Amino acid sequence: MNRKVTVVGGAGNVGATVARAIAIKELADVVIIDINAEKAAGIALDIFQSCPIDGSDTRLIGTTDYAATADSDVVVITSGVPRKPGMSRDDLLQVNYKIMQSVTEQVVKYSPNAVIVPVANPLDAMCQAVYRLSGFPRERVVGMAGVLDSARMRAFIAEELNVSVENVHAFVLGGHGDTMVPLPRYSTVAGIPLPQLVEMGLITQEKIDAICTRTANGGAEITKLVGTSAWYAPGAAAAEMVEAILKDKKKILPCSVFLQGEYGVSDQYLGVPVKLGKGGAEQVIEIKLTDEEHAALMKSAAAVRELTQVIGV
Ligand code: NAI
Ligand code: 2OP
Repeated sequence: MNRKVTVVGGAGNVGATVARAIAIKELADVVIIDINAEKAAGIALDIFQSCPIDGSDTRLIGTTDYAATADSDVVVITSGVPRKPGMSRDDLLQVNYKIMQSVTEQVVKYSPNAVIVPVANPLDAMCQAVYRLSGFPRERVVGMAGVLDSARMRAFIAEELNVSVENVHAFVLGGHGDTMVPLPRYSTVAGIPLPQLVEMGLITQEKIDAICTRTANGGAEITKLVGTSAWYAPGAAAAEMVEAILKDKKKILPCSVFLQGEYGVSDQYLGVPVKLGKGGAEQVIEIKLTDEEHAALMKSAAAVRELTQVIGV
């Protein structure tokens, strides 16, 4: 295969799930980088041995040696400490910032043309750290969170209405934290926006409000149940972004991107819809927001800014 994806932190829960999804879809060869050398090698070998069953010719290796990552097309960064029950994503700020520092240096050295997809939390602040440290253009540092948050919202809507998830689209914007902004007006079932479904008597406003709250607390709900943070949906979400980039799909997905005036926000990362293609976040899509929606997005932007100011990025 002539395409290469590196997953840094790939011996961990989210990273291994991303690597496996890439292998199943036969998107690229995969290099798993992790400070845990044996686990990296073992996870790569295990996924490699699943490839004959899945009919995939993806090759995988696991190593601590970044030389193996040279000229990766995409680098997914999942290296970072996950939260435990009771912790917020923000509690991970300092420890994961240190990890971003060492990792980004190596990624830039070996893959100067890659698109980097940070996943580690607190997501928007880690994106901004990687963006500053890498010196890459904003198009090539694009964070994963909105795809996950929107998938959670889609799942809850489909469950509530007893319809296929394939009929459901949802948009969750803002930072990947308690202040994220689910947008019912831009969330549709077979093309029908949720507010219209309320008018049609198919769902109540109270149910929609409950779905928005559950979406915003989606990560905490799983952390409380499992004892560490989620990995299946996050891994699938990152793999969807990798696929959009490698296949140059021009897919519009909510991602964390460095805003330069869009939505009235400057010089910071925030989750908004972007067009994802081989150049990364090729276009920021500005959708029209009501005053209330915009105020919620500004509150979320301020919460991200508080974190980036602490680490000075
Ligand atoms: P994990 O603990 O299972 O995996 C992390 C891996 O990173 C470990 O294998 C560890 O050895 C490795 N690692 C640590 N420092 C490293 C370094 N300097 N270089 C290379 N590898 C290193 O954690 P999990 O569950 O996979 O989560 C990873 C991160 O992703 C966490 O920060 C978590 O909060 C975040 N996350 C973000 C989501 C999002 O929506 N953006 C969703 C889910 C998790
Ligand atoms: C999640 O939302 C913890 O960010 C992680 O599951």
